[in-house]
Amino acid sequence: MTVGIERLAVYVPQYALRLTDLAAARGVPAEKLTAGLGVHEMAIPAPCEDVVTLAATAGARLLRAAAVDPESIGMLLVATETGVDHSKPVSIFVHDLLGIGHRCRVYELKHACYAGTAALMTAADWVRAGGGRSRRALVIAADIARYELGSPGEPTQGAGAVAMLVGPEPRALVLDGQSGTYAGNVHDFWRPLDRREAIVDGKYSIACYLDALTGAFEAYRTLEQPPLGASETLTDRLARVLYHTPFPKMAMKAHRRLVELDWRATPARWQALEDRLDDAAAESYRERVAPGLVAAARVGNTYTASLYLALASLLEDHGRALVGERLGLFSYGSGCCAEFFSGRVAADVGAVADAGVAALLARRTFIDVEGYERLIRAGEAGGDPPRDFTGKFVFAGVRRDRREYARPGAIAA
Ligand code: CAA
Repeated sequence: MTVGIERLAVYVPQYALRLTDLAAARGVPAEKLTAGLGVHEMAIPAPCEDVVTLAATAGARLLRAAAVDPESIGMLLVATETGVDHSKPVSIFVHDLLGIGHRCRVYELKHACYAGTAALMTAADWVRAGGGRSRRALVIAADIARYELGSPGEPTQGAGAVAMLVGPEPRALVLDGQSGTYAGNVHDFWRPLDRREAIVDGKYSIACYLDALTGAFEAYRTLEQPPLGASETLTDRLARVLYHTPFPKMAMKAHRRLVELDWRATPARWQALEDRLDDAAAESYRERVAPGLVAAARVGNTYTASLYLALASLLEDHGRALVGERLGLFSYGSGCCAEFFSGRVAADVGAVADAGVAALLARRTFIDVEGYERLIRAGEAGGDPPRDFTGKFVFAGVRRDRREYARPGAIAA
């Protein structure tokens, strides 16, 4: 049965900070952030936004663009590591705000940045099993990435959400069912229940990411059909490769590892080209990976949404030229769990390619470091939206221990 992503829609908060400004304020060379990490701008939510409003706005944009009746959604999965309650899931607030019907399976998923993929795979299995009958699944990945001010992680913050309609008529990406997974208990990045900012062992987290890529890609490679020829690599069969992107340089490191693994597993290629590995990996990166990193460099880390922001941005910019091509996707969640999987760009992608990425990025307001620090310290204060607010919902505040949400301009006194 054909299953995949029918359409994607993105939401990115309207405030952004230039990393050159952050570098100047922190006394580090701008090139360390723009070239060393590959990040140019990062998105900052307004005080009236939280993960619920980010997720619901992406969902509303998707339902509207796809002209889908909310009642026809049979499953709503929200993936996040920015949960708002130990018990009540983000998904049920989103279910309410989007006006989805009561006959719906609704829950939140967590495994660091991997949860978006866990949700997509769960939704695809549900569609394959016929659970939805004529109904579709709505998968939303949404996060606010926060580290301590002044810490090494600070330039890798960001915020955003991606909503995906998953069903039997994929017009964006047809999932081919091939997937390799990897999991193991590591302490590379985590956020204890009482903390707003993540704790991270930065260099170790990079090593864990690359180990997980090795495991997941090797598992994926063994499933390849038809088998690879004597001097053929799997990378030859992937038109583009998208990675979970905490910062764009991570995708470059990941692709270098992937090319090496792939070549080593193809002795004829390895013997002939071992000395050229760095150049060849860089060339392959420019062709296969860099085109998918445009949004990540301007939004920052969006945790669960990161891989899908890359997919949305790639299809929006290059989807029409990639019809029928196979994409490799790598998802990594600290802690850790990872998956390498693939899909083909659908024939009809031109009709659904606009996920709103370019339009949202063009409408952003750049703030200075002082304004950014004020917003970070204010946190999710709730209340009225700022002028030119681009979200569709606002967090009104907590009353009687209950989180309340409203349409912009409709906050009760
Ligand atoms: N010009 C150009 N490049 C420069 C430079 C300059 N003046 N100064 C330094 N650089 C380069 C460095 O050489 C380095 O590049 P390489 O890694 O290719 O050698 C790069 O800039 C970064 O420099 P440092 O390694 O010194 O940076 P740092 O230690 O201050 O912080 C970090 C880097 C550890 C990634 C930190 O930003 C961090 O902790 N980030 C959060 C954790 C993270 O994102 N981990 C990724 C894997 S885990 C994951 O993916 C899950 C998730 O979403 C969190």
